[in-house]
Order: sequence, then structure tokens, then C-alpha cells
Amino acid sequence: MKLRLGRLIKWSVALGVTLLIVAQFIPVQQTNPPVLSDIQASPAVKAVLVKACFDCHSHETVWPWYSRVAPISWWVAGHVEKGRKDLNFSRWPTFDFVTQDLLLRDIEDQVSRREMPPRSYALGHPEARLDDGERQLLLEWARAGNADESGLMY
Ligand code: HEC
Repeated sequence: MKLRLGRLIKWSVALGVTLLIVAQFIPVQQTNPPVLSDIQASPAVKAVLVKACFDCHSHETVWPWYSRVAPISWWVAGHVEKGRKDLNFSRWPTFDFVTQDLLLRDIEDQVSRREMPPRSYALGHPEARLDDGERQLLLEWARAGNADESGLMY
């Protein structure tokens, strides 16, 4: 009985390692397309956006080594793909004012409710956590941006 359990464990480990190795060959999209038109903001605001948001909401994603290792790579690539689809600072000036306005409201909402950056990301990136000053700065920027320009009321 003891011998069999030992074998089972050995085979399970071997199978697990084999699956991990095979998983590395499944292609994952982890590219940084060219930045065609970057967001314009004050250096202070831009610095906060870059450190806390750009990894998932721009074409300037920093892909650390572990983000290239399956199955983590699938999870990270999924976040970046979804993040860029919802909000892409590398394409910001190409959005019309109504879209920018809606996005700024969305940013205000997410930041004030502390939904962004996501908790799982902040765990691995302590520098991306927003302190009160940084949160305030982003909120003021988002509010100022959606008050002018389009002049639309919702
Ligand atoms: C780890 C990746 C990651 C980081 C970093 C990140 N986001 Fe996101 N964000 C996402 C994903 C993924 C979504 C898509 C919504 C979802 O699936 O939760 C999203 C959605 C959003 C949305 C749209 C929300 C909605 O549901 O309509 C806004 C606005 C947003 N993020 C703002 C920010 C801001 C501002 C920062 C920086 C302070 C930031 N995000 C940092 C991954 C990220």
C-alpha cells in the first residue's frame, strides 16, 4: 500500500511537470503595439497613471518574466487584453469627447471606489498602490476633464 501511494505521487508529479512544460508552448498574445497618440496630462497625473494603470490600460505594458510563464501568462494576458479594450491611454486622443467624458467618469468611479488598480495586481506591484494624495490627484483630474470640453450633461 505504501509503495503504491509513493508511486501515485511520483506519477502525479511527473504528469504535473509534463503538463506545465507542454503549457509553455501554447501561444499567448503579449505584445505592445505602437503608441500612436498618448494621453496628455500634467506630469504629476501622468506619473500616477503610468505606475498604477499603464500595465493594463496602455501599449506600454511591462511584462515581467513570471508574466511569460504559463499558466500565469494566460491570466495576465487576459487582464491586459480586457483592460486595453475598456480603456486605452495609448489611443486616448483618438476618442471623441463624449467617449473621453464617459471614460473619465468611469475612472472617477473606479478610483473613488478603490476598484482600480485591481487588488491582485497591487499585491505584486506595491508601488502601484495609490496613496490618498495620488487618489485625490486622479479624482481631481478626472472631474476637471469631464467638466469642460464637451460641455455635455448626463
Ligand atoms: C492588472 C491590470 C489592471 C490595472 C493595473 C488597472 N486596471 Fe483598470 N481594468 C482592468 C481590467 C481587466 C478591466 C476590465 C473590467 C474587468 O474585467 O474587471 C479594467 C477596467 C477599467 C475601467 C472600466 C471599468 C468598467 O467596468 O467600466 C476603468 C475606468 C479602469 N479600469 C481604470 C483604471 C485605472 C484608473 C487604473 C489605474 C489607477 C487601472 N484601471 C489599473 C485591469 C487593470
